Amino acid sequence: MKFLLEKGGSVEIVLVSNNIHPTEKGRELLDFLKEKELFKGKFNEVYSDISPKGENIILLGLGDEEELTLDSLRKAFYKVAKELKKYKIDSVGVTIPKFKDLCYKSTVTAITEGFLQSEYSFDKYLSDKKDKSSLEEVYFDVLEEKKEKALEAIKEAEILSEAIFLTRDLVNERPMYMYPEVLANAAKENLEELGIKVDIYDKKAIEELGMKAFLAVAEGSSKEPRFFVMTYNGDPDSKEKIALVGKGLTYDSGGYAIKPGDSMDTMFTDMAGSATVIGALRAIAKAKIKKNVVGIVAACENLISGSAYKNGDIVGSMSGKTIEVLNTDAEGRLTLADALWYAAKEVKADKIIDLATLTGACIVALGNLTAGAITNDEDLMNEVKKASELAGEYVWQLPSYPEYKELIKGDFGDLKNTGGRGAGTITAGLFLEEFVDKTPWVHLDIAGTAYGDKAKGYLPKGATGTHVKTLYYLVKNM
Ligand code: BES
Ligand code: MN
Ligand code: ZN
Repeated sequence: MKFLLEKGGSVEIVLVSNNIHPTEKGRELLDFLKEKELFKGKFNEVYSDISPKGENIILLGLGDEEELTLDSLRKAFYKVAKELKKYKIDSVGVTIPKFKDLCYKSTVTAITEGFLQSEYSFDKYLSDKKDKSSLEEVYFDVLEEKKEKALEAIKEAEILSEAIFLTRDLVNERPMYMYPEVLANAAKENLEELGIKVDIYDKKAIEELGMKAFLAVAEGSSKEPRFFVMTYNGDPDSKEKIALVGKGLTYDSGGYAIKPGDSMDTMFTDMAGSATVIGALRAIAKAKIKKNVVGIVAACENLISGSAYKNGDIVGSMSGKTIEVLNTDAEGRLTLADALWYAAKEVKADKIIDLATLTGACIVALGNLTAGAITNDEDLMNEVKKASELAGEYVWQLPSYPEYKELIKGDFGDLKNTGGRGAGTITAGLFLEEFVDKTPWVHLDIAGTAYGDKAKGYLPKGATGTHVKTLYYLVKNM
């Protein structure tokens, strides 16, 4: 899909809202449709007049201009792009006005994102590919004095969409093909060409690092674990570093606390945190953001075998703290314990963000729409909230009162890896906090947001790539 800043296209999109009056071209049709109550200009309403004798226009309702947001623009233009594909239209034009409360540049980014989102599919295993008809050219008629900004906006939307698609592809890939070594190599393949250094540690090197908690989880699989560190030095003059840590379970069977089959069939997505970090790093490097960022992933599989760890084990960790494994299915926090300690003590990061498909409890609390957050630093939390608003990706902070910590205190080891029935997302988050050594830190539980069992807005069924943009804006605006 190519974007051009001029008038053009075989079909024109005519925007209709309470304050925007369509061009001459759509006027007559709109009056007719309004009288017949066939089209009212409500948000996300689409009416196509495409036929040999038609006007070749698509009316797009935007509703009340006052209520328009960047995310509603993404959704509306995604819908139009899908409609155009249905009609096998290969070029389209739209005049982009200045909407009342929205920044013009962000408006162009959001509209471009909406178009680009229509391009994604994961159909590599389908013999009969879905219709591949494509929209080749999109013409934007933009305000003359904003042409420069519009070009930057398009470029940014292209970078973000490509990164999101990378994250989706990694998450959607099936576990027989996507295991720790493959994930680490995928990071190398997609990041090194942009000047990001990717260091990969094999099992022996992980043992030398002393990552006992991580290794305990990896023990049940015949596929070796990998620990990998992705270093982007966008600002060589600064010593400041932010670490992005992603959960990298390429499969989570639950281990001896084995999951029922119908909870296990999507557990190849348990590396979504790491895929989000990889996607975000790709976007950050491609946009040449002047910040230093270190991505960290402890990748393994949680399986059963004669050597797997067991419910009741007490394992060590890189930090020296010991952990009672009450449940082998609470494995993510064990792998993250060592990855976070590495971020705090080896990388000496100034700030840490971790993303993890960590708890089913988070889906119970917030559904598939919103990620749950736990923090030890309100300022950093506020930065994450701002970034997520820009991105149109929801984040909700959960309480972390010290009393909750009582629930994960160990009896025979320093900590327990589960905190009982209630507050599962909070106790999981607070367990992680034990390993950041007071570094400002935000944890995002993306168990619900990383994967959808049906398509929603511009998000496809399957991996969503949600929170790649949040990380990008967070780093960019820091
Ligand atoms: N990977 C799962 C969490 C998950 C569940 C992600 C559903 C996406 C969808 C995690 O490792 C897990 O199994 N958590 C347990 C923790 C419990 C044993 C304390 C859970 O949520 O049941
Ligand atoms: Mn688990
Ligand atoms: Zn898991």
